[in-house]
Amino acid sequence: MQITQDKKRNLFIKSYGCQMNEYDSERMTEILEKHNYSSVDEPNQADLIILNTCHIREKAAEKIYSELGRLKKINLNSERDIKVAVAGCVGQAEGHEIIKRSPIVDLVFGPLTYHQLPEMLEEIESKPGSPNKKLVNIDVPDEDKFLELKGSRKNLKSISSLLSIQEGCDKFCSFCVVPYTRGVEISRPSKQIISEAKELIGIGAKEIILLGQNVNAWSQSNETDIDMTFPELIKEISKLNIDRIRYITSHPRDMTEELMKSHKEITKLQPYLHLPVQSGSDKILKEMNRNYTSQEYIDIINKTREYRPDIAISGDFIVGFPGETDYDFEATLDIVRKVKYAHAYSFKYSPRPGTPAALKQEQINEEVKSDRLKKLQELIRQQTKDFNAGFLDKDIDVLIEKKGIGENRLTGRSSYLQPVHMSGDTSFIGEILKVKIVKTRDNSLEGIIL
Ligand code: SAH
Ligand code: SF4
Ligand code: F3S
Repeated sequence: MQITQDKKRNLFIKSYGCQMNEYDSERMTEILEKHNYSSVDEPNQADLIILNTCHIREKAAEKIYSELGRLKKINLNSERDIKVAVAGCVGQAEGHEIIKRSPIVDLVFGPLTYHQLPEMLEEIESKPGSPNKKLVNIDVPDEDKFLELKGSRKNLKSISSLLSIQEGCDKFCSFCVVPYTRGVEISRPSKQIISEAKELIGIGAKEIILLGQNVNAWSQSNETDIDMTFPELIKEISKLNIDRIRYITSHPRDMTEELMKSHKEITKLQPYLHLPVQSGSDKILKEMNRNYTSQEYIDIINKTREYRPDIAISGDFIVGFPGETDYDFEATLDIVRKVKYAHAYSFKYSPRPGTPAALKQEQINEEVKSDRLKKLQELIRQQTKDFNAGFLDKDIDVLIEKKGIGENRLTGRSSYLQPVHMSGDTSFIGEILKVKIVKTRDNSLEGIIL
């Protein structure tokens, strides 16, 4: 499909939300590059602006409207005909509503239809004698998006490259919009994944991060059996010329012993596990429809640590879920104390339209939520600090990812995903070096290349 004459144009794309959105933005950029679009860093230089949005919490979704407010000024002051598109999960969830609220928007689409961008742009393109057209494209398409995108990985965004292997979610946690914005859970075929991994390695990737909202639920099956499990897929990828493999995000329900064991057996698989628990209270976990108890979660962590004692555990928490008492919140602090996280994200519960939890009577007031969040974050901050402090004077492997801030500075990551800062030449980028840790901070390490 040709966009009208494929004339040279500029693209500004901004991502919000999770790494799956970042991945999608990379893919949109690639499709458009094929059609003569070049990326620019400022929206006022663009002919096409895409906001790739997140709907997970109210704040995330509302951000888009303030951004659209800013873009309106740019649009009005420009002599160019700037097209504005809202992509991603807000696009999927709010559809036509977005154009109603913000008439500068020309195009709305979701995570399931972005491969059709060239056709969509062709459709909204102003034609002589006819006015500009607006388009909302949030239907679930029949075709395999990834097949349409095949062979387009040409620009390396980062040494550490994202690769979506699984889309959507069937778990329907009572607080969450993802099953509605990203559709049913689909595992990409292993062949497709391996071939994309090879493309990424071909352009210089040293680390691959396998992505999915429930990445560890990935499997490949035929009518009756499972052909390939997630750990088997990791093993296949580890045979390629790649240094490191990670996966994110996992669900406790899908944490098989085979996967835990992989952290011992597959050396390229990094000792890091992001396993959100959300709450430590069994009553709340049940209300959230998480389908595990706090003890089951702890058992998974302990078992994983038997296979890989040094594994860094990370997680997500929600405080102030409807009906959460002080007692329930204490149980959350308690599970944090038991697990000892290397790192974790925590959020105030945000009621989301269309989710069952938003209809619950016992919503918690903002002040209580803020107070609980503060307490939880303080505990997690202390744990991250302690985890990092354990690395002082140690010699560790660091994958050098990019130039750091300041002259002759580099930034990389430890196997445990800690950011490591050090001095050194940019020619080291892409290498795994031994680094002596000379200082530890709350959220990063300082080292000297050995
Ligand atoms: N699939 C992952 C998480 C995806 S969303 C899982 O099941 O663990 C990322 C995180 O956002 C969630 O882990 C949760 O902590 C948070 N989140 C999701 N919905 C939320 C809501 N309505 N309010 C506050 N936080 C939310
Ligand atoms: Fe959302 Fe639950 Fe699915 Fe995670 S598992 S994406 S929290 S519904
Ligand atoms: Fe947000 Fe959609 Fe990701 S709602 S967290 S961008 S799947």
